Amino acid sequence: MKIHDFSNPKAYVPDEDRYDKMVYRRCGKSGVMLPLLSLGLWHNFGLVDPAENARKIARKAFDLGIIHFDLANNYGPPFGSAEETFGMILKKDLGIYRNELFISTKAGYDMWNGPFGNYGSRKYLISSLDDSLRRMGLDYVDLFYHHRPDPDTPLEETMLALDQVVRSGKALYVGISNYDATKTREAAEILKELKTPFIIHQARYSLFDRWVEEKLLDTLGDLNKGMIAFSPLEQGMLSDKYLDGIPDNSRAAKKMTYLEKKQVLSKIDRIRALNDLAKARGQKLNQMAISWILKDDRVTSVVVGASTEEQLADNISAINNIKFSGDELKTIDSILK
Ligand SMILES: NC(=O)c1ccc[n+]([C@@H]2O[C@H](COP(=O)([O-])OP(=O)(O)OC[C@H]3O[C@@H](n4cnc5c(N)ncnc54)[C@H](OP(=O)(O)O)[C@@H]3O)[C@@H](O)[C@H]2O)c1
Repeated sequence: MKIHDFSNPKAYVPDEDRYDKMVYRRCGKSGVMLPLLSLGLWHNFGLVDPAENARKIARKAFDLGIIHFDLANNYGPPFGSAEETFGMILKKDLGIYRNELFISTKAGYDMWNGPFGNYGSRKYLISSLDDSLRRMGLDYVDLFYHHRPDPDTPLEETMLALDQVVRSGKALYVGISNYDATKTREAAEILKELKTPFIIHQARYSLFDRWVEEKLLDTLGDLNKGMIAFSPLEQGMLSDKYLDGIPDNSRAAKKMTYLEKKQVLSKIDRIRALNDLAKARGQKLNQMAISWILKDDRVTSVVVGASTEEQLADNISAINNIKFSGDELKTIDSILK
């Protein structure tokens, strides 16, 4: 019997010019430099997704100088499986470049049953990071986040847990996500006293969601902390893919996602108007949406998702045109008002 198994791709050799393709920004006043574009593994890396495609996207990222991979304990589905897939990718392709990579994970949303599988207790955070490390086959992550504020656990307990993961060598830096400006200041004060390397805040920021402009960006600027913007394409709405309807293979058409068709349809006029402006700038809408965030140098990086390696390559062109004229900014404001 002959076996013709061509499924195993050739050994991965990364692009030697990868660092010339990317620009890196300093994260607040820390020693960390992040690529303008980072890769998020919330979707497309679960057990339900084709592993070979996930592997291709991660390899493409590294080839493009995207050295920052952003995970969380519950990315999948099922929960935990994105970290397992990434562990496989590290083992097969990227692990020998570990010193070049900046890997983050988080805990704070629901992960396991019972009172300790959610929010911000010391018990949850520390045991969750242990699980994450096991799934990825790592000794440490570069960055560990508290994923969302906990209204009931004392902030000091959560911050002490972040401090402990650094002291125990399981994370090099810590961050917070989805905290408002006031809670961010309180967290920063505690972490400053503890001398914990708190360097970054991860917040939703896009043309369709500008809440960080109200206070958070100023606060992070004052505190000398970095900011990484998530869902810059509003889960794909800020691209040309929905202009003529909802494609079958899009996030809005898939089950087990957080993007519904009706959300897309309710914004379609604005998407079309923004698409026209992007064209006038010589960009695609997805590229303009990313460039628009990066025009503010208080933003260290933009963390995008991608369902194909081609999308990632397409997004990276955004970094070549991050200046906007006053007229373009006014047009954007009038489209979004
Ligand atoms: N801290 C938090 O609470 C939090 C919450 C959410 C996300 N995040 C982080 O942010 C990351 C990004 O979030 P996100 O996936 O919502 O980001 P996004 O960049 O707004 O959306 C990504 C999706 O947009 C579509 N897309 C990407 N590039 C495209 C292109 N060039 N042309 C057309 N469509 C394109 C793809 O959807 P299709 O599948 O339709 O192709 C892709 O999966 C996550 O992976 C995670 O790391 C953090």
